[in-house]
Amino acid sequence: MKKVLKWTGIVLGTLILIILILAAWIQFSATPKHEVKPVDIVLPTDSLSLARGQKIVTTICAYCHLGEDGKLSGKMISPASEPGFGELWSANITQHPTKGIGSYTDGELAYLLRTGVNRDGRMSGIMMRFPKMSDADVAALIAYLRSDAGIVQPSEAVHPFPEYPNKFLGKFLTKIGVFDPLPYDGTPITTPDPSDQVAYGRYLSTGVYECFVCHSASFETNNELDPEKSANYFGGGNLITDDEFNNVPSRNITPSKTHGIGNWTAEQFSAAIRTGVRPDGSMLKVQMPRFANLDEQEVAAIWAYLQTVPAIDTDPLATDSK
Ligand code: HEC
Ligand code: HEC
Repeated sequence: MKKVLKWTGIVLGTLILIILILAAWIQFSATPKHEVKPVDIVLPTDSLSLARGQKIVTTICAYCHLGEDGKLSGKMISPASEPGFGELWSANITQHPTKGIGSYTDGELAYLLRTGVNRDGRMSGIMMRFPKMSDADVAALIAYLRSDAGIVQPSEAVHPFPEYPNKFLGKFLTKIGVFDPLPYDGTPITTPDPSDQVAYGRYLSTGVYECFVCHSASFETNNELDPEKSANYFGGGNLITDDEFNNVPSRNITPSKTHGIGNWTAEQFSAAIRTGVRPDGSMLKVQMPRFANLDEQEVAAIWAYLQTVPAIDTDPLATDSK
């Protein structure tokens, strides 16, 4: 009996020691620096491209970066009391030369949007990335960030430097590769012809407006390079946080007739994503961005594409669906 106890003690003790050593290795490892390879990019100057850039920036970037001063000066994404990531702000991305991104070159900015690596070589792990956005759309959105539009004019806002790269969870996610930069080799990416509705809709919902990022199972199981391989693709369940830090699961928007939007009409879909009103008249929570700026052609294309996504007959609001 005593022998058994002794051996159990030794085994347990060794296990605990191994776990402690692993934890210490994670905690005391340095945050890696990555190479920055600025993208070769020429900004458009025509008004159509600027309008396109405005649409992308005010719909997507503003969702996370719109500050209290009405400019893209950054806002709190998670509070200091949050145990995993701690206090985290999105960046000031106005034209301020030191407090904003005025001194980023266009190529550095494009590289960050593609890979997540900022101009200092630090991985912006929490920042949304756009590996599938076309070169023309990336250039258009950067042109808008450089324009004389009100929301990008210099803001003095300064936010605390993100803590999570030095916190255990951040280091752990770095070690297991979740915060690795996305590969980018400069292969040209073109916008599909809008007359091919399904291809254009797929492009918009996986490359520009990133519907699948929120509408699949979780950020951790999303596949940014191969969106269809994301767990529960468009079946919802990912927890999305609002400005008061309340979590709401995203919905199933596959064509499932039981748990998705298989019984909706194109008009109901358009109303829901533009204005937030569901077919039953209830309002969508603010965790769902409003896509009010999208034109009819874009909404129709996204709708057409979603009809082709495999239906998932589970309810993301039921706890057993993940
Ligand atoms: C889902 C939220 C989210 C969206 C959408 C988003 N961002 Fe960010 N962004 C962040 C957060 C959070 C940070 C700060 C993270 C960090 O520094 O680790 C950030 C940082 C940045 C930075 C600064 C990086 C640095 O450290 O210098 C730039 C530039 C930027 N975002 C541009 C954009 C642009 C342009 C868009 C739209 C195409 C966009 N972001 C969309 C959340 C977001
Ligand atoms: C930042 C995360 C996020 C993004 C990006 C996003 N959604 Fe949502 N969406 C949500 C959340 C969260 C809900 C659930 C809101 C609620 O419960 O009121 C939702 C709800 C919906 C609904 C209502 C479904 C229902 O059954 O009531 C539709 C339709 C929808 N989204 C479509 C889209 C489309 C299309 C896109 C891309 C153009 C998109 N969403 C992008 C988070 C997101």
